[in-house]
Amino acid sequence: MKSDKILDGLNGMPIIPGDKSISHRSIIIPSISKGVTEINNILKSEDVLNTLNAFRQMGVKIEQTKNKVIINGLGLKSLKKPGKPIYLGNSGTSARLLTGLLATQNFDSILTGDKSLSSRPMKRIAEPLKIMNANIETNNGLMPIKIRGKELSNATIEIKIPSAQIKSGLIFAALNTEGITKIIEHNVSRDHTEIMLSSFGADIEIENNNFKKIIKITGKKELKSKNIDVPSDLSSSAFFIVAALINDNSEILLRNININPTRNGILIALEKMGANITYLNKRTTNNEVVCDIKVISSKLKGCELQPEIANLMIDEYPILSIAAAFANSPSVFRGLKELRVKESDRLELIHNNLSRCGVDTSIINDDIHIFPSKKFNVIKNNIQTNYDHRIAMAFAIMGSKIGNIEIEDSDSIKTSFPTFIEQFNKIGGNIY
Ligand code: S3P
Repeated sequence: MKSDKILDGLNGMPIIPGDKSISHRSIIIPSISKGVTEINNILKSEDVLNTLNAFRQMGVKIEQTKNKVIINGLGLKSLKKPGKPIYLGNSGTSARLLTGLLATQNFDSILTGDKSLSSRPMKRIAEPLKIMNANIETNNGLMPIKIRGKELSNATIEIKIPSAQIKSGLIFAALNTEGITKIIEHNVSRDHTEIMLSSFGADIEIENNNFKKIIKITGKKELKSKNIDVPSDLSSSAFFIVAALINDNSEILLRNININPTRNGILIALEKMGANITYLNKRTTNNEVVCDIKVISSKLKGCELQPEIANLMIDEYPILSIAAAFANSPSVFRGLKELRVKESDRLELIHNNLSRCGVDTSIINDDIHIFPSKKFNVIKNNIQTNYDHRIAMAFAIMGSKIGNIEIEDSDSIKTSFPTFIEQFNKIGGNIY
């Protein structure tokens, strides 16, 4: 895809699709609950469709209409052995969450993925599950993952790596395990799994004490289906928010956006940089906080972000780095080790691609320093993405300001935001 300068600003109300994390959980949880669930505004992107196909392969009846997905769940023990390995494409969330769920089934299964997913670490979910006696074999820590389903033993597990995917995989294993499993988290991570499970009647208790969160799950309790309205995705919104901030004469309104406090780091960071963002109509849907977000072009200043905030905005560093490139002073974002094991080594790609756009950056330990350019000269106008959707969209936004850049392997955007180009051009963008 190519991205060129915007001349007259961005104006209007782009439609942001459903939240990716909540969409995955909207398939997994109803599939193991009892009853019919209707899901509105689910994200129909490749990653989510891979989760949906996985459950179809395991015998769950799932209907898709134009606006809804309808799942007929038959309970905790209703999944059937898949006839072949389950292919999860690019989706790390599907891989980690399903590993936990499948570890407790009375059948064996194999999970596979595309080139990017096959290079991402899977020991981080296999090892903690082994504390519950799970039988999981990885390929030297990578996919394919071979799971011998069995009855697991409850345990107390401390999560060492800040990760909602690990936490959620463990919670799914605990749901089908006799007795109380305790999961201890030392870093905040997105809590969509806990929120949705509580509303489906799971026996899940949460205690916050001394900077740690203890999640207690009493297993073997059937869940009860409930309809879900998926709010729109803040991570996808972030590309539009930054685009409107850095392009003069812009004013956009994004509706029905999830601003769950375990996910809103990007908004905190941009406000620190002086962004003109207003929150309207704050409300809750299925116990998730949502609102409409108005964004107006702003003169941004640089900022320093400590490692703790990374837990609240891990997916947004590519687009935040673009905002930093147009600020009037340098920025430093600290403690970004986890960025190296996302869909690509994002730390390296942010650095390399910003350099290609004439922006000075350096990586020192796990911190990235960004020195805004006064005069952007595109040194090489092709952007390397290693098939990472968020790198592709972030640099498309870069192109909206400096013009004439070509983004390689941009097909990846269909994993999370298939309508990105259409919606961006609808409000005045220039991507083709
Ligand atoms: C996700 C959790 C995050 C995030 C990913 C989606 C989820 O990963 O990067 O895009 O839906 O649970 P980690 O929890 O591994 O940081």
